[in-house]
Amino acid sequence: MTTQNSHMHTPFAATLLERRDLSADTALFRVAPEESALRTLCSFVPGQFVQLSVPGGGEVPISPADLPAADGTLELCVRRAGHVTEVLHQAATGATLGLRGPFGTGFPLEEMAGRPVLLLAGGLGIAPLRSLLMHLLRNRNDFEEVTLMYGARQPKLMLFREELAALAAKGGLRLFLTVDFAPEESAGTFSCAVGLLPDLLKGFRFDAERTYAAVCGPPPLYRCLIGELQKAGVEAERILLSLERRMRCGIGRCCHCAIGQKLCCVDGPVFRASELRQIPEAL
Ligand SMILES: Cc1cc2nc3c(=O)[nH]c(=O)nc-3n(C[C@H](O)[C@H](O)[C@H](O)COP(=O)(O)OP(=O)(O)OC[C@H]3O[C@@H](n4cnc5c(N)ncnc54)[C@H](O)[C@@H]3O)c2cc1C
Ligand code: FES
Repeated sequence: MTTQNSHMHTPFAATLLERRDLSADTALFRVAPEESALRTLCSFVPGQFVQLSVPGGGEVPISPADLPAADGTLELCVRRAGHVTEVLHQAATGATLGLRGPFGTGFPLEEMAGRPVLLLAGGLGIAPLRSLLMHLLRNRNDFEEVTLMYGARQPKLMLFREELAALAAKGGLRLFLTVDFAPEESAGTFSCAVGLLPDLLKGFRFDAERTYAAVCGPPPLYRCLIGELQKAGVEAERILLSLERRMRCGIGRCCHCAIGQKLCCVDGPVFRASELRQIPEAL
């Protein structure tokens, strides 16, 4: 077994360098993988995931929120959802974590090159889509118009809001933000619409026949967004959905993540809407 293959099963060590709170239950963790992991992790394609192990907790799939930095460090945006993520949120800087991966399919970047790209993120769905967004913006000339539509329940739950506003202000990104409702308290200096994410698509003028759409968010959102995108003229082959399933092995062995005949960990997590047509339980 090669070193690379053995790390499909055995995690690389990674040191927790810092943590930045993004909302009451979500934080951005910067981790430094051991040096021998760098070559493997540098093959990461936006949309893929890693299996993050937290001592005393367990292992969870997480899609890195950006490509590895030049120094090999990795950003993981993690919501406190249950046991493992709770232990991670309690971990001190300097703690040793584990990483396996990257696993699964990423976004088809070569196919998307030269096309307009529309990213649609709902809630925590911005975490996996952020790595795609950063790739598009760093290679801005390789893509046509880049648009991000991002919806959150309320302003204070909108992750990376200042960063996104700053990226849009630089040019090269069309940004549309929306919240389900806007309570009276202020959540900083950024403006957004009030309404549901699919509402942003209604009346939105874009080159639907050439656009690739990348969607990530809570499950109920998918059907609605696919409907709106198809109504606008985006073919199902160009609607890319990042799906979530509970995972164990992450490498196609345990069938824990089955979606019909497909396995989320190896056939996904990025699927085309056209691939899922025959699998009603997928969405
Ligand atoms: C490919 C992939 C990428 C992911 N990327 C991220 C990410 O970037 N950031 C992030 O915060 N989370 C991400 N997740 C979700 C994350 O893996 C789960 O929140 C985590 O496994 C919860 O583990 P836990 O032990 O803390 O909670 P648990 O105690 O296992 O679960 C807490 C609650 O969440 C539900 N739940 C747990 N996992 C899932 C799941 N996969 N799908 C639906 N419901 C679930 C449980 O049913 C339970 O209600 C991703 C999941 C997948 C499959
Ligand atoms: S998590 Fe084991 S097969 Fe997908």
